Amino acid sequence: MSRMQKLAQQFNQFFGYQGTHECHAPGRVNLIGEHTDYNGGFVLPAAINFGTDIVAAKRDDNKVKVLAVDINEEVSEFALNDIQFDEQYSWSNYVRGVLIALQKVFPKVGGADLAVSGNVPQGAGLSSSASFEIAVLKCFASLYELPLDGVKAALLGQQAENEFVGCSCGIMDQLISAMGHKGHAMLLDCESLDIAHSSIPAALDLVIINSNVKRGLVDSEYNTRREQCETAARAMGFKTLRPATMQDLQASKDKMSDAEYRRAHHVITENQRTKDMFDALNAADMATMSRLMGESHVSMRDDFEITTSQIDYLVEIIGDVIKEQGGVRMTGGGFGGCVVSLVPKNLTEAVKQVVNEKYEAKTGLKASIFVCSAEQGAFAG
Ligand code: GLA
Repeated sequence: MSRMQKLAQQFNQFFGYQGTHECHAPGRVNLIGEHTDYNGGFVLPAAINFGTDIVAAKRDDNKVKVLAVDINEEVSEFALNDIQFDEQYSWSNYVRGVLIALQKVFPKVGGADLAVSGNVPQGAGLSSSASFEIAVLKCFASLYELPLDGVKAALLGQQAENEFVGCSCGIMDQLISAMGHKGHAMLLDCESLDIAHSSIPAALDLVIINSNVKRGLVDSEYNTRREQCETAARAMGFKTLRPATMQDLQASKDKMSDAEYRRAHHVITENQRTKDMFDALNAADMATMSRLMGESHVSMRDDFEITTSQIDYLVEIIGDVIKEQGGVRMTGGGFGGCVVSLVPKNLTEAVKQVVNEKYEAKTGLKASIFVCSAEQGAFAG
């Protein structure tokens, strides 16, 4: 039985009737372009074969009732005209926030019963929350036949997260969950929201290794990085770091702190690496991809300071196996979470082996390894 079929049964058992709609939105892995999205820069993520499933049906009142089958079957219920922040069931704030944002554009949205289940590892930097937001939006768009496209849906998801949940994230996670293409990575210009897709060569496995480092202080560190970038941009006379060049940065070095300088240095160089990576992917030029991913990791470690010793170790031991035949770097917001690796298929077993042999012995933590595929976004047709 598929996950969705099981969820349909659970819907039936709980609500006592058949759900009418099934929706899915994927999580994501970012190949390169980290902490660039909220700076108006470039990112290159792929949607993955882990995500959030929802089985739903319309109600004829204005209530929303959500069953979280993976979270002790907790149930959250609220009226669409009176949506409050839920301190107890914090997961439900993603649904609540999204519905506040959606109603501003489509005031006639009505109630629904929802059963939700997801398999994106939480707190791993693989966007479980964005996949939840986009699945909810897809669900209401289908139930109420709303003319909602993927870009608009992504903006509403981001708005929910920024204004209701309280995380000042950029647009990458929601946009790739909505608009990714199967087998492809997506170059996104976070200023214009222009999109271009490039296929991931069939000879490569997309391997994600979860360090299982418990992430602490993520939101506050994330928001501090964001402020430092904004201060550095202002010191150069810009609104965002997008137009800034290395020359601008050098010229304004004295007008900013050392930390602000290094944060801006990461973003400016990362934007260039992300565009170069897209070209290298199009040309299936693995040696260049390998170098760019390696440089991106070093930049996150030294300039942006968002890696941890365990993550650096994973990157080191995997890099020793794949050399310039593959690429590896930390992915996502940082301070733990996952490493992403493009691995030639004949080396995937060796990568798994080295992680299993060395990582736990060195760090006391067990890594989880996922050989993933790039999948279709929820609104990508
Ligand atoms: C988190 C945020 C994204 C992005 C990444 C870092 O995933 O939600 O918007 O900023 O961190 O690249």
